Amino acid sequence: MSGEKGVETFRESTSSPELLSAIKVLKKELSSELVILGHHYQRDDVLQFADITGDSLILSRKAAEMQKKHIVFCGVYFMAECADILTEEDQAVYIPDLEAGCAMADMAGRRQVEETWGKLTAVSDETIIPVTYINSSADIKAFVGERGGLVCTSSNAGPVFDRAMELGSKILFLPDRYLGANTALHKGMNKKQLWLLDRLPDRRQMKDIRVFLWDGYCSVHRQFRVEDVYRLRKEYPGIRIIVHGECSEAVVQASDDFGSTSAIIQQVSSAPAGSIWGVGTEEHLVRRLKKRFPDKTVLSLSGKGVQCTTMYRITPEKLQKTLQGIRDGGSTQRIRVNPEIKHYAKSALMRMLSL
Ligand code: 13P
Ligand code: SF4
Repeated sequence: MSGEKGVETFRESTSSPELLSAIKVLKKELSSELVILGHHYQRDDVLQFADITGDSLILSRKAAEMQKKHIVFCGVYFMAECADILTEEDQAVYIPDLEAGCAMADMAGRRQVEETWGKLTAVSDETIIPVTYINSSADIKAFVGERGGLVCTSSNAGPVFDRAMELGSKILFLPDRYLGANTALHKGMNKKQLWLLDRLPDRRQMKDIRVFLWDGYCSVHRQFRVEDVYRLRKEYPGIRIIVHGECSEAVVQASDDFGSTSAIIQQVSSAPAGSIWGVGTEEHLVRRLKKRFPDKTVLSLSGKGVQCTTMYRITPEKLQKTLQGIRDGGSTQRIRVNPEIKHYAKSALMRMLSL
């Protein structure tokens, strides 16, 4: 492992049967007013309690539709923030660990983004539309919403790019440089039309640029290497390689396909028995696919398997405490997005959801 923050080698986790039955009892007690949402990267002993599982897009749509009073989000902070933004005033959203952030979302801070925006708009005569990946803070979503921009997830980045290009002629994409580049290249743009914001372009360079890429990334998906793709192709002739859109352009281009966690699940589940898959994403999902489809061979693209340390902060113990707090009328795990931020962040999310 590279020693990068936010990523570690997969660890098997177990929980006592007493703890698991205590959660079951609490869930039953609260059932009329509770829904638990779970992201695909959660550990099995947490995800088994989710009423709805899904990728970021599915879960944010579900959060918007939910009628329940209490919504417990087993995922990372920005996901729970989105649920709070999209639900009504009389609904409460909780996350079992308030420290379960997303390292990539933390790479784009509002002040720094505002500063860069100011410099870019000062040297460009064309309209720049800000687009943020859902893996960003509510504050960044509000920044984007206030300027007529949109949110996207890894499921709908393509159509969101199309919409942004109807609204303007350039995109500022935050915070994932790889999802931004992969989407743009997939749409037929060339590398010269992409600009990584580790430095600013001058007025002359501005002309050809169509997408400015914020220099953020996911340390988990950055672990996958082109060499991993070549190694698996050599060892397993006929293998299909599918990776998450947060992997580097080189890995995506060497693979057969890329997409969201749901797209990965969908592809593997609809493949014929006997097929072989190399999957480049978080290990909890890879292992679940392996178990769910014993008639297919599912391999992790990175031999050992990598896990997201912050997703892993959600444990059955913390889920139990959160449910207990809700039942006793005092959970400390509630997420409350500032109303002013909520307003603009919601407009950016709604522009995406209405596509
Ligand atoms: P999905 O929307 O594809 O589930 O991805 C979320 C995520 O954080 C991937 O690292
Ligand atoms: Fe964030 Fe990467 Fe973890 Fe997804 S896997 S939540 S992008 S750190």
